[in-house]
Amino acid sequence: MRITREMNERLTRVGEGTPMGEVFRRYWIPALLSSEIAEPDGPPARVRLLGEDLVAFRDSAGDVGLLGAHCPHRRAPLFFGRNEECGLRCVYHGWKFDVHGNCLDAPSEPPGSQFRFRVGALSYPTHEAGGLVWAYLGPIDRMPQPPDHELVRVPAGHLGVSRSNEPCNYLQAIEGGIDTAHSSFAHNNDLGNTGHLRALDTHPRLEVDTAAHGFTYGSLRQVGQGRVYLRTYQFVMPFMQIRGGLITWQGEPAAYPVIHGHIWVPMDDENTAVYNFAYSADPAQPMAGEWWADHEREMGRAPEDYEPGTHWLIRNPDNDFLIDRHVQRTRTFTGIAGVNTQDYALQTGMGRIVDRSQEALGSTDLAISTARRLLLEATDEVERGGAPRGAAPATHRAIRGGDLLMSAGSDWRETSKDVREARF
Ligand code: FES
Ligand SMILES: [Fe+2]
Repeated sequence: MRITREMNERLTRVGEGTPMGEVFRRYWIPALLSSEIAEPDGPPARVRLLGEDLVAFRDSAGDVGLLGAHCPHRRAPLFFGRNEECGLRCVYHGWKFDVHGNCLDAPSEPPGSQFRFRVGALSYPTHEAGGLVWAYLGPIDRMPQPPDHELVRVPAGHLGVSRSNEPCNYLQAIEGGIDTAHSSFAHNNDLGNTGHLRALDTHPRLEVDTAAHGFTYGSLRQVGQGRVYLRTYQFVMPFMQIRGGLITWQGEPAAYPVIHGHIWVPMDDENTAVYNFAYSADPAQPMAGEWWADHEREMGRAPEDYEPGTHWLIRNPDNDFLIDRHVQRTRTFTGIAGVNTQDYALQTGMGRIVDRSQEALGSTDLAISTARRLLLEATDEVERGGAPRGAAPATHRAIRGGDLLMSAGSDWRETSKDVREARF
């Protein structure tokens, strides 16, 4: 499917009233990490979501509010507000709002005035699960049940969640995340190692099955001795990927098998909040002590990789991601440190919004064109007044991704059935 400029516009604009913006407003979507507003009555957090400026806070009872960033009185920033006694109080004239946006107090008005009952702050419903604060920004009468990905049922001791912002449109970030082929190249961080499963076959064959949640795909690499290296990915509408980390790149069982993935949430047309997660594949095996910290370091998200106090990475387009040409010649394919930093360099370097009318898609791009098709179908469905694919939790409840070695000639759908089933 060739993407015209018009289709590209339709796919990439996320604001209210745009076709895709309206699709995203039919799902529960992550707005921020729970840890960004860890404490009741703690500091509020700025949220930029689908082109809207919002502020999140946790009130005295522990409930989370997600309000418009600006006070309804004269538009002062609620971010500077006092978070106290079950509400966020604007520090300009003292008006106070609860998590639902109700004005609890307007002390600049005369005592006994009914005025406060007529003003309210913009507020969106929230739901906390899986270390994330989810929000619903759409019409209330179309609100689906809360999300029920396996991720949200995993206990804290089995789960790692992080966030990093990426300065480009959400779709090119997703397209990297469902593109197994690039891992043979961009993520080859050990040039001398020819036994690496992804180096043994650099042209995986992809098979894509659309499903109620989005799609499942199998990527098959012929790795010799009659063996096939299978990776199955789930694309969960509208912007989530789940995959398995059950075996190592050498084909050994992973010491600590995990399920991995990302959720790419548009902050606006040109910036994306990337939520990264991993959890124990086996419910009997909680996450080992240092595992998550080590994993984050390898991905390029150690604490010192961030601009202090932000979710922006120090390696960024302005400094060419600190590419080291000597390392590129001698050790790694890209010369850029951090697996996901490598992704960011390639995805953001396409421009904030890549012009897809200029592409030449090849055989390994089948999952990418399927994702585009499903997203475009969702815009049509929402315009017709229907519900988009994958919004109902029953569609995504039971799935996970998986990877394994199988013998050539086996049916990958059958062989991977067990590893693609949720266990939490
Ligand atoms: S602007 Fe917030 S109370 Fe006046
Ligand atoms: Fe990647």
